[in-house]
Amino acid sequence: MINRDTIEEVKNRIDIVDVISDFITLKKSGQNYKALSPFSSEKTPSFYVVPNKGIFKDFSSGKGGDAFTFVMEHEKMTYVEAIRYLAKKYGVEIQEEKVSDEFQAQQSERESLYILMNFAKEFYKDKLIHSEEGQSIGLSYFRERGFTDRTIQKFELGYALDGWEHFSKEAIQKGYNKDLLEKTGLVVKRDDGSSYDRFRGRVIFPVHSLPGKVIAFGARMLGKDKNQPKYINSPETDIYHKSNVLYGLYQAKNAIRQFDNCYLVEGYTDVISMHQADVENVVASSGTALTEEQIKLIRRFTENVTVLFDGDAAGIKAALRGIDMILHGGLNVRVLLFPDNEDPDSFSRKVGTTEFQKYLKENTKDFVSFKADLFAKEAAGDPIKKAASIKEIVTSISLIPDPVKRSVYIQETSQLLKIAEPVLLTELNKILIQERKKQDKDKSTRAQEEMPMESGPVAEVEAPVRIDAQARVQFQEKECIRLLLNYSDVKLEDEALSVFLLNELNDVQFVDANYKKIFDDFLQAAENNQHIDSKFFIENGTTEIRQIVASLITVKREVSPHWADKHKIFISKDADELDKKALSNVRYFKYRLVQLWVEENKEKLKLTSDELEIDDLLDKQIALKSAEAALAEELGIVVGKY
Ligand code: CTP
Ligand code: MN
Repeated sequence: MINRDTIEEVKNRIDIVDVISDFITLKKSGQNYKALSPFSSEKTPSFYVVPNKGIFKDFSSGKGGDAFTFVMEHEKMTYVEAIRYLAKKYGVEIQEEKVSDEFQAQQSERESLYILMNFAKEFYKDKLIHSEEGQSIGLSYFRERGFTDRTIQKFELGYALDGWEHFSKEAIQKGYNKDLLEKTGLVVKRDDGSSYDRFRGRVIFPVHSLPGKVIAFGARMLGKDKNQPKYINSPETDIYHKSNVLYGLYQAKNAIRQFDNCYLVEGYTDVISMHQADVENVVASSGTALTEEQIKLIRRFTENVTVLFDGDAAGIKAALRGIDMILHGGLNVRVLLFPDNEDPDSFSRKVGTTEFQKYLKENTKDFVSFKADLFAKEAAGDPIKKAASIKEIVTSISLIPDPVKRSVYIQETSQLLKIAEPVLLTELNKILIQERKKQDKDKSTRAQEEMPMESGPVAEVEAPVRIDAQARVQFQEKECIRLLLNYSDVKLEDEALSVFLLNELNDVQFVDANYKKIFDDFLQAAENNQHIDSKFFIENGTTEIRQIVASLITVKREVSPHWADKHKIFISKDADELDKKALSNVRYFKYRLVQLWVEENKEKLKLTSDELEIDDLLDKQIALKSAEAALAEELGIVVGKY
């Protein structure tokens, strides 16, 4: 554990401009700096660094924070990795808190596993190139498959000589102990206590961890011995957990980030062939179904996955399963099927790089079209089958955690299958409600079996969405109050600002009690033909209200509610644009409120099983959605675009 003083020391020495400049080119702009966002592909700079506050803000992606956050976001590091990185950069010596002896022993054992795996990798690499057997069998096999020297280097491919003890002898001679050899799985112990090399007479595919350390090997046989498995893989060890690893991620991570998409294939050779066809954003789950951990791993780099499958029946079945897993993991899925009997490896070699890339581009479908096409053939002219296929698609959509995305896909399905959206929504909600009940049931049985304390609140799943929606409403409430406090008597085109705001918003419900109180006081005063301003609240308000009012007025000259303005990045003079600001506040306020109601309605839908109530709520949902769309249009927002 890194101790607190170290972290403080690093914080003290950090210069955020210096830190960020290591990754992108900043241009001075007044007291601040700006640049093109490194998190999106924008054309005009909206990435700002504010040195005197030690923060950055990226308006295109919404990311923002201090130097640690930047390094974590940009380099996909954990907090601890970011501290280590910055400590090194600024020459701060890292003080570790005392950890238990047991923990230390564990750490150093893991360390020795890494060292031995690295030794093994170098050993197999060396044998591939420098031994006669390696050259004539291993290297010529790779050549036959069209692997270039560069590829062999990049993936650190190797060869394990045929024989029982080539590796163990060498390793023991170099001082590695027998126990450790077994712990890495490189050597297998017999019952009589003797042991032998696991990998013999096979080509070797090292598996790398995210930072690039070798943690396992896959070894493919040569020739066609029916009695042997095609691949022998490292067993699970302290440093290798198969379900947490994606083959090729280390080599792919930059490309995945760059293209904001990750291709998912089946095996070692598919990954490598794609690299040879200049498609580098590719990983493999190595012959097993994708796990949740693997999905999370991809998510660190992109939200978009394209799954590549063989076009045969087995491939399609696997595709369907894979799609649902990934949707459930919150990623966007696209699918590409190869022609019958082709996989990425065979197909790319058959048609060549250019054609292959073209094929990828032209044949990738989003999962709704993929499923729709798949079932269209079966369902043509058969209403029962058609209903079943709709259910199939909507079931997949129901797995998507983000409600906004769900509604986008419902729209798409509606257009594609020519079925009215409300019908699909009803179907979707039925599934969601069933799922909800099932979860609750699971939860309560689990809670009974285990201890009751772990069973959280029922509506937990959707709560964050509603809380976000509330926060957005509150943001508008704050802006409304700020305008009232500072400019209530400024005359807009037809009337005073306060008259306009109070008229437009007098029947909305505020989320925040304090903002509500202030608004009501303004309303009350207006009704009595009195004039009040910030002074009134500073003198009469509760402590909380006084604080709120003070923070909204003291910064009057330089501050507008937007983060950027607060730091004088965008110089927009409040006073010049008050009419626009007031109008925009009113529109956004209503828009955010409707969005909040949508979320609240959704939560109610999930919690009820009363059919009549469900009908009511669905009607309301449809009405709210169309109100949302109308307000969005006024605001020039394209709803559902993402
Ligand atoms: N696999 C495995 N053990 C096996 C067979 C397969 O671990 N006995 C895993 C490997 O990760 C392999 C992936 O499943 O890469 C896909 O299997 P397959 O398509 O049979 O292997 P390829 O690597 O594509 O080999 P080749 O192209 O040489 O057939
Ligand atoms: Mn294959």
